[in-house]
Amino acid sequence: MKRKVTKAIFPVAGLGTRFLPATKSVPKEIMTLVDRPLIQYAIDEAREAGIREFIFVTSRGKGALEDYFDHAPQLENELRKKGKDELLETLKSTNMDSGEIAYIRQHKAMGLGHAVWCARRLISNEPIAVILPDDVIAAEKPCLKQMVEAYEETGGCMVAAMDVPTNKASSYGILDIKEDKGNLVKVKGMVEKPPLGEQPSNLAVIGRYIITPDVLRTLNQMKKGAGDEVQLTDAIAEEITRGRDVHGFRFEGERFDCGSKAGFLQATMAFGLARAELRDELMSYMTDMLAHRAAAQ
Ligand code: UTP
Repeated sequence: MKRKVTKAIFPVAGLGTRFLPATKSVPKEIMTLVDRPLIQYAIDEAREAGIREFIFVTSRGKGALEDYFDHAPQLENELRKKGKDELLETLKSTNMDSGEIAYIRQHKAMGLGHAVWCARRLISNEPIAVILPDDVIAAEKPCLKQMVEAYEETGGCMVAAMDVPTNKASSYGILDIKEDKGNLVKVKGMVEKPPLGEQPSNLAVIGRYIITPDVLRTLNQMKKGAGDEVQLTDAIAEEITRGRDVHGFRFEGERFDCGSKAGFLQATMAFGLARAELRDELMSYMTDMLAHRAAAQ
């Protein structure tokens, strides 16, 4: 019987250089879309997919992230006294139970594969989800839940996948497709950041993975790949050479690359417009702004 996916690793130890100077003191994962930090979207998605243990791979300067998950009894009391019940519920919905979270340090940013490997001692013989909080996915059914359901049929390793334009393929891990069955794609190879024009397809890996413990064992070898970093995709690709199944999963939903400024701003607009209390004001601002720009041209 396949084991259920109940643990997730959240690698949050990257330097976040694309958001400097903000990331000098604010971890990227604490930056907010409307009023919730990126990490909260990732946690909510994981919980809805059945994840019960949350493993954060952090680094120096990420204290604000650890503080975020602490309970805030003083704040809760104040809200209770003032009768702000709705806010109190919102606040309490972010509380994590004692023992639900573990923090592991990645002492040097040696790549995503290395970050995941740092969590190896907290994993036994079980499948593990990996979630990159800077890939935010708006979906009716959360992306990881879609994947876990598909994984229950396939087993093996699975990566979230999305078709990208040819000129963007060199920024992603790209799948070499063996069999395309629509949502599910059987993979015969994976290339991390292929040079322009050399990508085996336009199907890119997005920041959601389900991996087997074998991938962690492969990561023991610490082989460096693209960007001179230890790449998670390379370790997953090794599974294929050993005759094991790796699938890409074309999820349903809209993905925002919140690791980039343009993606973060687009997500801010999309999530703002999705809020009933903000929609009208935002829409009228945007309509006016576009009209002014058009008039000025
Ligand atoms: P990115 O490639 O976005 O790197 O990492 P980054 O450092 O966060 O951001 P930039 O490129 O400097 O702006 C993708 C994910 O992998 C994690 C990051 O925290 C992010 O969630 N990561 C990356 C690590 O945890 N450790 C690493 O060594 C590298």
